[in-house]
Amino acid sequence: MWKFANPIKHPIPEARWPTAEEATRSSLFQPVRVGSLELDNRTWVPAMVPWRATEDGFVTPDNLDWYRRFAAGQPAALVVEATGIRDIPSGPLLRISHDRFLPGLRKLVETVREASQGHTKLFIQIIDFLAVKRRPEAQKYFQRFLEITEHHRQAIAELTEDSKWLSADAAGIRAFLGEAADEIIAGVLNERELESLRFGYRERVTDLHLPHVRELPQVLPAIFAAAAHRAREVGFDGVELHYAHAYTMAGFLSALNDRGDGYGGPRENRVRLPLEVYRAVRQAVGDNYVVGARFLADEVIAGGNRLDTAAYFGVEFAKAGLDYLSISKGGKFEDAEQPKIGQAVYPYTGQSGYECMPTTLSDERGPFGRSVPLVAKIKHAVNAAGLTTPIVATGGITTFAQAEAILQHGDADIVGLARQALADPDWFIKVKLGRGHEIRRCTYTNYCEALDQAHRQVTCKLWDRKELDEAGIAMAADGRRRLLPPKWPR
Ligand SMILES: Cc1cc2nc3c(=O)[nH]c(=O)nc-3n(C[C@H](O)[C@H](O)[C@H](O)COP(=O)(O)O)c2cc1C
Ligand code: SF4
Repeated sequence: MWKFANPIKHPIPEARWPTAEEATRSSLFQPVRVGSLELDNRTWVPAMVPWRATEDGFVTPDNLDWYRRFAAGQPAALVVEATGIRDIPSGPLLRISHDRFLPGLRKLVETVREASQGHTKLFIQIIDFLAVKRRPEAQKYFQRFLEITEHHRQAIAELTEDSKWLSADAAGIRAFLGEAADEIIAGVLNERELESLRFGYRERVTDLHLPHVRELPQVLPAIFAAAAHRAREVGFDGVELHYAHAYTMAGFLSALNDRGDGYGGPRENRVRLPLEVYRAVRQAVGDNYVVGARFLADEVIAGGNRLDTAAYFGVEFAKAGLDYLSISKGGKFEDAEQPKIGQAVYPYTGQSGYECMPTTLSDERGPFGRSVPLVAKIKHAVNAAGLTTPIVATGGITTFAQAEAILQHGDADIVGLARQALADPDWFIKVKLGRGHEIRRCTYTNYCEALDQAHRQVTCKLWDRKELDEAGIAMAADGRRRLLPPKWPR
């Protein structure tokens, strides 16, 4: 996990919680219009993958329990985890890529509606991602995956000053590399091959030599549109297009996207596919349905987009008609740590990952509301263009006072609480009822994120070992953790 050179340990901000009357009068508990619907108030739980779907992407009873538990806290909006839109094996991540997934998703919608007593609007985040393989053992990589080319023969011949390698067969080259020292390997493999060896093979949107990557602009609008149509069919209140972090659509927006086919290079070209996807989705779901997007205020990688470009994208999205913009930061593969052999690279291990889910070991700015100044700039750019598209700020928001200040300063229209909601899904109802002092406060040390990285069922360290003798509770696959926080005895 990436760390600051001289980190400062920040305490959790002290909180003064409002009385029920103060909460009722607060900006946080005023309704807000999002496209064709109205949210009860300005609270929001952004998408969080809990690793509870079946291996082939179906909703499980554990998924239902998870969302039921969040809904019981009555946030005004809850975004269902990143859900795959392609009908391909993708492990225990939810999928909405075929009608066979719809009965489970319909049940999820009904569960949230019932548990929140109709107070929580339910959106679903829809995602496309490219192939990422696990880091291979070096021998396996040289024997099975590396495609031997003339370049390898020439490089070995030069490095060894022995021309016999120019005519060596592939088996000989593989055997040589299998025995070679790291510096020799670094001199023989090209940058992408070295990356595949050290981090695992990973596709990029710029891999135009791969037909399925070249064709992404032709195929993705229809795939996103079909997924959004299914979401509407089963009763979700809206869809969120996942244009953030390390995935396909963020790859198109990225400043590193230099595709030469009109979908890369200048920012006008990079935003083209995200806009085309949006238009196809809009056509599929009609005007009377919420379509939002999540994208990055800053990629936080060398050569990546910074705030000015993000503000440009925000204005383009708002102009196109997106109903809300949820702002995140970082979460990229480019600066991720090297994974262990047999594991896949995880896009939240580098500095960009830190910025996505900041912890209390920080610089002087600290993790709390760390992205708010960036969100505010995007909001001001959107408003300056004459648009009022609501903007969701997330990242280290944990107290009522923080949330209230963000809204009152006009830095955002809605506040998202991810980890704080995981630590205590009843945050929203407790604040509303004037019982904020009963909130279990997130410590922002990312035990939950480590579980996500290991693809283990996500829980919170503040409650997953508590009251394990409670009758009928569901336990994690490791048998040691409860999967949900205890009920709040109101
Ligand atoms: C376990 C876990 C899973 C997450 N999964 C997603 C996801 O599916 N999609 C997404 O856009 N962000 C995801 N995030 C990022 C959060 O939505 C949020 O942006 C981030 O945690 C920062 O907000 P916070 O400080 O309120 O936690 C995830 C975060 C966590 C901790
Ligand atoms: S595990 Fe830690 S960072 Fe995650 S929600 Fe719980 S207290 Fe917060």
